[in-house]
Amino acid sequence: MDQIITESRDGILRIEINRPDKKNALTAAMYQAMADAIKAAEADGGVRVILIHGKPDLFTSGNDLQDFLDNPPRDDKRPVFQFLYGISQAQKPIVAAVAGAAVGIGTTMLLHCDLVYAAPNSRLQLPFVNLGLVPEAGSSLLLPALAGYQRAAELLLLGEPFSAQKGKEIGLVTEVVPENELFETALAQAKKLAAKPAASLRITKQLMKQGQMAAVTQRIKLESDHFGERLASPEAKEAFAAFLEKRKPDFGRFN
Ligand code: COA
Repeated sequence: MDQIITESRDGILRIEINRPDKKNALTAAMYQAMADAIKAAEADGGVRVILIHGKPDLFTSGNDLQDFLDNPPRDDKRPVFQFLYGISQAQKPIVAAVAGAAVGIGTTMLLHCDLVYAAPNSRLQLPFVNLGLVPEAGSSLLLPALAGYQRAAELLLLGEPFSAQKGKEIGLVTEVVPENELFETALAQAKKLAAKPAASLRITKQLMKQGQMAAVTQRIKLESDHFGERLASPEAKEAFAAFLEKRKPDFGRFN
């Protein structure tokens, strides 16, 4: 799977999203590869930290819209959910390095990471409503809790792109880091974590997340029910067709 590159070195499992010709859009096969890598990392005593990144100017444009049509995730057993349950329940720390487009799951997956470094060229976006869909990855629960209701509503209802700086203001981004230092910074922080007592890290993370873990898992499932239903809606079909035909969608005929 050359669209997801994994490399384990010095206690760090690096997961690189590598499909630049489609703006790193994620297919079911790519989610499966990432889910498998996280599962293997959790079981491998040699891995102490997970580092997720894309290209210097591109994180991911989110779910592949064509793959959504060809391969709709109708239930929460599908690869995307294995990936989401994997990152949301991971015991080992996860560091993310974000640059360029970080759309849809490219933003929501960050809610499950422990340290998020983002370059000033980042364009985060939660365009679910614009696509006739609903939020996923537990974001309908985690984002209001993190950012406050009004800021979450702005990002989820309007679905417009926002900057790394705004991501930092709402608590989603740990630090904004210049493009040319992004990967090295994220790697250096991952190395710091890899050198720490692994059990203490694991238990600390577990303690911080314990109160909300069951609620997050339950919300991911609830969102997936709505998501599957909305994916089959005429609004979503119009939004996806418009994207693939490079035109503006027209939702005027649906109510
Ligand atoms: N799914 C499938 N294909 C995608 C994609 C996606 N999420 N994002 C980009 N692509 C494809 C485009 O169709 C295009 O393919 P083509 O060269 O065969 O025509 C190619 O990647 C380049 O994309 P383009 O839109 O020309 O690049 P851009 O730099 O102008 O814009 C984005 C980049 C990320 C802003 C834009 O592609 C976008 O909005 N993508 C959709 C994001 C989205 O809605 N994701 C789903 C979230 S749930």
